[in-house]
Amino acid sequence: MSEALLAVTDLQVAYGHIEAVQGISFEVHGGEIRTLVGANGAGKSTTLLALSGLVKAKAGSVRFEGEELTRLKTHQIVERGLVQVAEGRAILTTLTVRENLELGAYRRPRSRDGRSAIASDLERVLALFPRLHERIDGLAGNLSGGEQQMLAIGRALLARPRLLLLDEPSMGLAPIIVQGIFRTLREINAEGLTIFLVEQNVRQALKIADHGYVIENGRIVLSDSGERLLGDPKVLAAYLGG
Ligand SMILES: Nc1ncnc2c1ncn2[C@@H]1O[C@H](COP(=O)(O)OP(=O)(O)OP(=O)(O)O)[C@@H](O)[C@H]1O
Ligand SMILES: [Mg+2]
Repeated sequence: MSEALLAVTDLQVAYGHIEAVQGISFEVHGGEIRTLVGANGAGKSTTLLALSGLVKAKAGSVRFEGEELTRLKTHQIVERGLVQVAEGRAILTTLTVRENLELGAYRRPRSRDGRSAIASDLERVLALFPRLHERIDGLAGNLSGGEQQMLAIGRALLARPRLLLLDEPSMGLAPIIVQGIFRTLREINAEGLTIFLVEQNVRQALKIADHGYVIENGRIVLSDSGERLLGDPKVLAAYLGG
């Protein structure tokens, strides 16, 4: 088995007396798609926020390539290559598509080589999302929900992630659009990017994941390959209407 790119051990996060994440452990290996699935309020977003340093871990360890992240600030974590696509997308509606994408690259060096690397990453993102290409100089606020989600992912890709974190990219989107987004995630992964995906859309997430974790009330209750979880009677009963 390969060594974990991300290793989370006994992570706990609390909001005052609300114990949102109660000592969870999981790993993400290089080249994989892993997912953390669960119901409303289970602790998925809180887990992601803790990885990025946006909420403070009360206890536990988050190691990325062997380095402890819980003591670092968010911008330092992003510099290490942990880049989050925000829930609800958080795109800037009064800027153009191009300007939103360029924001993803704002921390990257602007030397000649740096600029040409950004330009080629932009080209790759536009090839991945032809809809964005067509609307590159239009306002982001005029995009559909699915296109805004593509833009949020594209912007994160321009930060050159080594591990892409996504919080419910399927939220509020029609099933056909969700399938398109997930197909693209698979494509990005096939090109070598490691992905950690948090989802309430258990079926779609497990379909694309090498490995899945099920979180309930702040604790991981199941851990198995995506395929086996999809066929697990407990998962079927609780999440897939089986
Ligand atoms: N800022 C906050 N202050 C207090 N409690 C919070 C805060 N954010 C989340 N919680 C609580 O922490 C628990 C976990 O919430 P979290 O948002 O992590 O769940 P989630 O799995 O992402 O849910 P959803 O699928 O609805 O996004 C819930 O009980 C929630 O009410
Ligand atoms: Mg959430």
